Amino acid sequence: MTLRLGVNIDHVATIRNARGGEHPEPMRAVRVVEQAGGDGITVHLREDRRHIRDLDLDALMSETRLPVNLEMAATDEMLAIALRHRPHAACIVPEKREERTTEGGLDARGQHNHLAPIVSRLLDAGIRVSLFIEPEPAQIEAALRLHAPVVELHTGRYAHLAETDRAVELKRLADAAALAAKNGIEPHAGHGLTFDNVVPVAAIPQLAELNIGHFLVGEAIFIGLEESVRRMKALMESAR
Ligand code: PXP
Repeated sequence: MTLRLGVNIDHVATIRNARGGEHPEPMRAVRVVEQAGGDGITVHLREDRRHIRDLDLDALMSETRLPVNLEMAATDEMLAIALRHRPHAACIVPEKREERTTEGGLDARGQHNHLAPIVSRLLDAGIRVSLFIEPEPAQIEAALRLHAPVVELHTGRYAHLAETDRAVELKRLADAAALAAKNGIEPHAGHGLTFDNVVPVAAIPQLAELNIGHFLVGEAIFIGLEESVRRMKALMESAR
């Protein structure tokens, strides 16, 4: 199975927003990602609009040929936005106002009753729903009960460990990917992935997609966005 790279361009907008003007334009980054062989564009429209904003989403939806994956909190506001835009996919993430970035997976089990109507309305609109969860069997089972076709496994804990300490976390990711696939759920993964830590994750055979943002945009400062995306794709392909 091929492994797709979804490029999260949120932090192009973060840099733009630091000065309040238009540069660097997220849509210019989208065109570079298209050119570099990225397989999709991921954006997280946060409640506080700290990176991507509503107008960016409008432009993205009308101007890219790549599938768009909208990361969204499970709120009425975001549900209405997703239903209006109908992106290819919507990845439901937990969102806390005070966090710097998404800190942990969604509690799909504990929040079943809150998530169920949101997941079903997205699915009814033809949007591929993904749940961003920790690589735990209980969360996969919860995703199954919610009829989510996709789960995105949180690689944050793996990414923060020293290379010598990663084996246990890597096994959790591999076991979760296998369990999801066995139950007919397509497993994806993401958060904190870099050139240095992506290969063992990309080697997990059931994974169909990785979503990577902060590192690619940061690395673009040194080698350019096109090269940053190309090198990440090459590393992912080398793992298969
Ligand atoms: N996947 C999800 C669900 C995320 O929330 C994020 C961060 O926005 C990513 C992937 C990408 O993480 P990073 O920016 O660390 O590559």
